[in-house]
Amino acid sequence: MAEKREFRAIKGTRDILPPDSALWNWFEAAARETFEGYGFRDIRTPIFEETSLFARSIGVETDVVSKEMYTFSDPFTSEDLLWQSVEQALSSETRTGESEAEWLARIRTEFESRPKGEVLTLRPEATASVCRAYIEHGMHTLAGNQKLYYMGPMFRRERPQKGRYRQFYQIGAEVLGQSDAPGIDAEVIEMLLEFFRRVRLKKIRLQVNSIGCKECRPGYVELLRGELQKVRDRLGADSQRRIETNPLRVLDSKVPEEQEIIEKLPRISDHLCDDCRKHFEALKVEMKLRGIEWEENWRLVRGLDYYTRTTFEVTAAGLGSQNAVCGGGRYDGLVEMLGGPPTKGIGFAIGSDRAILSVQESGDLPDLPGLAVYVAWMGEKAYLPAIQITRKLRTAGLAVELPPDEMKFKKSLGLADKLGAKYALILGEDEVATGIFTLKRLRDAEQKKMNENDLLEYLESERRGTGA
Ligand code: HAM
Repeated sequence: MAEKREFRAIKGTRDILPPDSALWNWFEAAARETFEGYGFRDIRTPIFEETSLFARSIGVETDVVSKEMYTFSDPFTSEDLLWQSVEQALSSETRTGESEAEWLARIRTEFESRPKGEVLTLRPEATASVCRAYIEHGMHTLAGNQKLYYMGPMFRRERPQKGRYRQFYQIGAEVLGQSDAPGIDAEVIEMLLEFFRRVRLKKIRLQVNSIGCKECRPGYVELLRGELQKVRDRLGADSQRRIETNPLRVLDSKVPEEQEIIEKLPRISDHLCDDCRKHFEALKVEMKLRGIEWEENWRLVRGLDYYTRTTFEVTAAGLGSQNAVCGGGRYDGLVEMLGGPPTKGIGFAIGSDRAILSVQESGDLPDLPGLAVYVAWMGEKAYLPAIQITRKLRTAGLAVELPPDEMKFKKSLGLADKLGAKYALILGEDEVATGIFTLKRLRDAEQKKMNENDLLEYLESERRGTGA
């Protein structure tokens, strides 16, 4: 007998079921609408990429790359391998001084030493993929800045807790092009806040920092490392390790005993080069012009290596320790590091799981459209008219439920109520004979009698929100 076992979603992953999925759809639709209003367009990149794309852009010393990636090897098929050998054989240099046997032996050795597969990773974030696509498709030749947005699942092997998952969802936006005008940074932030306003996120806190560029940051990092060495014994194991690997990350530490020490460390704002300082000052002016409220946080360094200059994070209500609903910043030079032309870039990613959780916890939920009409039919003669009116109502854009089996009116009206329908359309043999429908509003049991035309008109205006 087959083994009986209950399958469950993998730890750190979850199912998003109705009615929550409707809230997710509303949230994502609001993002599309907001971002498109700012001239951004959708980009869809694959869920997995070459591992080295992430390692090079995010940085091998980061937690994401060193501990959290879902990496697997994808073996080539024997057909892939055969074609590779044929191509190699055809393109290899002429076999001067080599016998045929020697030549074949050499080809065989080369063949055997060739990798037998690729190492791939489920994307932990999408900025690297967007930059890869930008280079691969020569998007720098297109007019203006490329303003792109995306939404979808990301994967990190983190310790699951409230608001932290191994498969989580991000909505992100990136601007790639030749300009690093601070107005771009400010507009990206404005768009983000406008989206959060539309989805009713509460207690939004925006923190902004500048972490310098490749001219000024190395000097600051060395200074920081030197200062950290002096207080090494008073730091925890993680921070001690980071003195060597990435001293900036020590500033991120949440360990209570380290806070007093960190507050006394040198601040990057005192060590920015002239260009970075001017950029940051201009960004503050640009944010002011847009009425954006922010707090400067010199300790906001972010956990990914590609950032330069502007970094920012947004926190929201109701989330406990995992309260960052968005992180972003500038990454000038990343495209070039991945083999593309010199390019400036800035963007952010919103953690949808957390942002939606925050909206849910606040209780200020939108009125999402549910089932509009339940067609309560009874009697053999009512079935065909029920099918026909259902089709017409659906064509008019209404959500309609047509029960497949005949039921007594009492039972079907009870079910209509449980399904949360707004109206029940009563269709018995009398209604069929007279051509007059009975529409019952379930909220207050008010009944209206009307012919098909009036019914369609009434329900359509209801749907548009212009009706009674
Ligand atoms: P990130 O800060 O690693 O940045 O992630 C952005 C947001 O994704 C976080 O603020 C959080 O809301 C959410 N998030 C991250 N990990 C998890 C998780 N395990 N479970 C639930 N939510 C999570 C980036 O990913 C950058 N690519 C953002 C960016 C775009 N920078 C420039 N362009």
